[in-house]
Amino acid sequence: MVKQRADLTFKYNLKHGRHSWLRLTPAYSIKIVQQILERDPTITYVLDPFSGTGTTGLVCAENNVRCDLTDINPFLVWFAKAKTANYTTDTLQQAQKCVHEICRHVLNNCETEPLWFPPIHNITRWWPKNRLVILAKIYQALNYHLPKPSPAKDLLLIAFCNLVINWSNAQFNHQSMSFKDESATQLTLFDEDRQILRQFSDLTEKIVASAHTSLKGKVAVYQEDARTLSLPGQEKYNCVITSPPYPNRMSYIRELRPYMYWLGYLTDGREAGELDWQAIGGTWGIATSRLQAWESNGTPIPYPGFEKMIGDIATQNTILANYVHRYFADIVKHLHNLYPILSPGARVFYIVGNSRFYNTIVPVEQIYAALLRDCGFTDAHVEVIRKRNSKKELFEYAVSAIKPE
Ligand SMILES: C[S@@+](CC[C@H](N)C(=O)[O-])C[C@H]1O[C@@H](n2cnc3c(N)ncnc32)[C@H](O)[C@@H]1O
Repeated sequence: MVKQRADLTFKYNLKHGRHSWLRLTPAYSIKIVQQILERDPTITYVLDPFSGTGTTGLVCAENNVRCDLTDINPFLVWFAKAKTANYTTDTLQQAQKCVHEICRHVLNNCETEPLWFPPIHNITRWWPKNRLVILAKIYQALNYHLPKPSPAKDLLLIAFCNLVINWSNAQFNHQSMSFKDESATQLTLFDEDRQILRQFSDLTEKIVASAHTSLKGKVAVYQEDARTLSLPGQEKYNCVITSPPYPNRMSYIRELRPYMYWLGYLTDGREAGELDWQAIGGTWGIATSRLQAWESNGTPIPYPGFEKMIGDIATQNTILANYVHRYFADIVKHLHNLYPILSPGARVFYIVGNSRFYNTIVPVEQIYAALLRDCGFTDAHVEVIRKRNSKKELFEYAVSAIKPE
């Protein structure tokens, strides 16, 4: 029987050094990448076109395998670069020194300017007012002591991202996230400011301690759309290890909003909706209304039964039918774009989950296998990795294939 296995999800990563630097629910487990690399020592140059928090890049770097990462989300590109960088002792000492200066600065009320708050809609749903003020003071002090981008600043900003989420009212107890109830959200703790500062210092120490490890493999990270990859290198990849968005209406922007607003990657809800619309499988804000008007350009999706499946979903909800159709049209574009940048004999691994809309199961893994074959890959193979949740028909799969010699 296939089981739910926490060790094959992002939860496993939370105990492993740099891998724990930022929680992203749809991140995959480091074990998945490790197993692929262990089984095939001929893998020398990996691409992850949907790299998210950079799990693939970090595992490759730890195993001395060269890897390029791409993602459409600029915040994740910044984060993956920081997570896979090598840090000098000077940088680590600078980060440790700065965190003390920042805490002193805040405790001594040294604000130089009016506080800035991120323009998040309904912000007090995220943080009660008092908590927001201390977080804003820390952010201001951080930028005062480290005004320019630098590796030390990256480490402190990662600690700050953890701090804002730890002290927020967000709860991650189901597929995406929700807020604690209204009465709990306005409570603040006795001596809370000092607790928050102490945690900022502890988080920085923890991040600095794991940043000490030196990474052997070279990692490059680019902001790219996987449908139109234009990577600078001449050399071709001999492996793809990736976990694209699943067609399950889960928005990455939604979960990443607190970090993206605080760090200036988003300035309003419209921008968030635009980014979600550009992302494959995006479905949030403006993306939903655009889906209503979306029409296929007629390119067939080469999976027998695809049209019937879309028709079945459309009888219940036409927006969802368009959502699923657009998702696979995007994956077809991505695969055609990817094929030429792989070397003959290259192996690809797509970690995907199936979906269900009303009574219609979307066999995502089978559709990927069919799309890979149609694109020219051979030996398309599907392996079940784990059961995803209590709904018994939802699983995670590895779909693999080979580019012929
Ligand atoms: C399932 S997540 C990847 C998680 C990753 N394996 C990790 O461990 O963190 C899918 C990623 O695809 C990215 N994405 C969505 N549409 C994209 C596109 N058109 N081009 C590149 N990346 C895209 C999202 O921003 C998201 O980070």
